[in-house]
Amino acid sequence: MNEVIRALMERRSCRSFTKEAVGREDVETILDCALRAPSGMGKQTWQFTAVMDREKIRKLASAVSEALGRGPEYDMYDPAVLVITSNEKESRYREVDNACAMENIYLAANALGLGCVWINQLLTCFDEPKVRGLLRAFGVPEDHGVYGCAAIGYPAAAPGEKERVGKKKIVE
Ligand SMILES: Cc1cc2nc3c(=O)[nH]c(=O)nc-3n(C[C@H](O)[C@H](O)[C@H](O)COP(=O)(O)O)c2cc1C
Repeated sequence: MNEVIRALMERRSCRSFTKEAVGREDVETILDCALRAPSGMGKQTWQFTAVMDREKIRKLASAVSEALGRGPEYDMYDPAVLVITSNEKESRYREVDNACAMENIYLAANALGLGCVWINQLLTCFDEPKVRGLLRAFGVPEDHGVYGCAAIGYPAAAPGEKERVGKKKIVE
């Protein structure tokens, strides 16, 4: 099977990571793949911010948890890396553009032997003061919203199979 087709067919979300750190070169590759995603009218109004410090990720998870009224155990699966995909709040294509980039991030991570899962929780709380304060400290632009994050790390367990229930149809 073609390598790209196989990568698409085998992509799965991973929600359990080892403690092993991810190398900076791999993180750079993942961000470069995100930057090559398609964007509406080619605007590329996004930024991809990789946080490679578990303690900083835990702080963000804790602020998000507080903002959403969740318990203290919420840790975004405690990944080695969190890629925050942000975009101008006024950008017409912000969410769809970032979704395209998220798929590139998933595929790049998998190709490097890493697990990845989409973390959506910032979508509704990126402007909560504590959350925004941390985003600011990470260098996420003030006029950006967060339209998906990718938790990434070495998989602690192989992700299970997921039944595909969506329909496909071909008209000839
Ligand atoms: C828009 C969107 C939001 C998602 N948010 C989360 C999330 O917050 N936490 C999570 O564990 N998975 C999240 N996921 C991952 C989905 O649960 C996952 O893709 C789906 O169950 C199919 O499994 P697969 O990725 O292994 O094919 C999200 C996926 C998408 C596309």
